[in-house]
Amino acid sequence: MSSSVGNPTAVVSSAVQKYAATAGGLLPLLHEIQASLGHIPKDYVAAIASGMGLSRAEVHGVISFYQDFHYQPRGDATIHLCRAEACQAMGARKLEQHVKARLGIDFGGTTADGRFSLEPVYCLGNCACSPSIRIGDDVHARVDANRFDELLGEY
Ligand code: FES
Repeated sequence: MSSSVGNPTAVVSSAVQKYAATAGGLLPLLHEIQASLGHIPKDYVAAIASGMGLSRAEVHGVISFYQDFHYQPRGDATIHLCRAEACQAMGARKLEQHVKARLGIDFGGTTADGRFSLEPVYCLGNCACSPSIRIGDDVHARVDANRFDELLGEY
């Protein structure tokens, strides 16, 4: 990789140069910035828009629409909490309250120590063992408040 890794100005400028002339280049550009910096710094939306010949609203619209893109740095692991019907029927709402209180964040947030981000998800394909959550790449079944606390301790 180049020496631009981790430097937002250099990363954004290099990505804009790479994709400015590409039709539909905004998505790969945003993926590249997200991969290099771990997020898309909001302060650079204007530079991205101008470099790509788009409005700031268009760039913001794409960043907001896709769950892969984030304005804030993400935690080391993302916790996806299922909010779909089967999990809701088995206590996911109560679990959600506990998870938010325990982590001290809402959906879209990242803990102060940078360890966890929290996101909603709408079915993890594990409905028979609701409520389900995914921490990083691992799906966990029949999670209640106590089990969640145990899982946190394991990460
Ligand atoms: S509804 Fe939660 S895993 Fe399917």
